[in-house]
Amino acid sequence: MNNMQNNESHVLEAHQIHKSFQLEENQIDVLKNINLSVKPGEFVAIMGKSGSGKSTLLSLLAGLDHPSSGQIKLNGDDLTHMSEEQLALKRQSDIGFVFQSFHLIPTLSVRENIEFPLSIARQQDVGRVTELLTAVELTHRANSFPHQLSGGEKQRTAIARALVAMPQILFADEPTGNLDEKNADQVLQLLLNLQKAFNTALVVVTHDPGLAQLADRTITIIDGELV
Ligand SMILES: Nc1ncnc2c1ncn2[C@@H]1O[C@H](COP(=O)(O)OP(=O)(O)OP(=O)(O)O)[C@@H](O)[C@H]1O
Ligand SMILES: [Mg+2]
Repeated sequence: MNNMQNNESHVLEAHQIHKSFQLEENQIDVLKNINLSVKPGEFVAIMGKSGSGKSTLLSLLAGLDHPSSGQIKLNGDDLTHMSEEQLALKRQSDIGFVFQSFHLIPTLSVRENIEFPLSIARQQDVGRVTELLTAVELTHRANSFPHQLSGGEKQRTAIARALVAMPQILFADEPTGNLDEKNADQVLQLLLNLQKAFNTALVVVTHDPGLAQLADRTITIIDGELV
C-alpha cells in the first residue's frame, strides 16, 4: 500500500465505485468510476442535475445500499464486504443521515425521535438528547409529534436524530430542499455549527449555490461521473 498515511487521514474513501440497475432488459449505469475521499470535519457539497446520481451515491457512501463494484471505506473499514447486520451497526455508530423528506417516526415525539438511534443501540443518554434539543432550538417542542411541526422543525429534529450517536460523518440529501428561505438558512447554519462543534464531516447534496459556496469543496456529478 503506497498510501497508508492517506488512508488514515480520511474518514471516508470511495474507490472506483460503479452502480448499475437492471430495468427490464436494459442495464443502466447510474454511477461510473467514482473516486472520492473526505477528511474528518470536512464539508463537501455534491451538486448535479436531477437524475445525475447524487442520491444513489449518497446511499452507497452511507452504507444504505451496495455498489455493483468498487470499495467504500469508513475509518478504514470496508463497507462493501459487510453483512447487513454489520452495516446496521456501523450506521448506528459512525454515520448520520438526513433525508430530504425527514423520515421521522410519526408515533414518536420530537424527543423520542431524537433518542431513537440510541434506543436501538440500547444506549441511553438523556444529557445528549437535551443538549441536541437545545442546539436545534426545539426544547419547547420536545413533546410534540411530527404532524404538529413545521417543515423546518421537522428537519431540525431529523438533524438532531442524525447526530445523537456522535457520528464522524453526516450525509444530508438536499436538507433544505423542502424549506422556505428562512428555515433553509436556519437549518444550514445549524449544520455548520454542529460540524464545527463536533468536528463532524458533512457530505451534502444540494441544488443551492449559496450552500455549496460555504463548503470546503464542491464536487459535481454529470451522468454518474464526478467531474
Ligand atoms: N432502484 C432503481 N432502479 C432503477 N433505476 C434507478 C434506481 N434508483 C435510481 N435509479 C435511476 O438512477 C438515476 C439517478 O438517480 P438519483 O436518485 O441518484 O438521482 P439524483 O441525482 O439524486 O436526482 P434528483 O436531483 O432528482 O434527486 C436516475 O435516472 C434514476 O431513475
Ligand atoms: Mg436525489
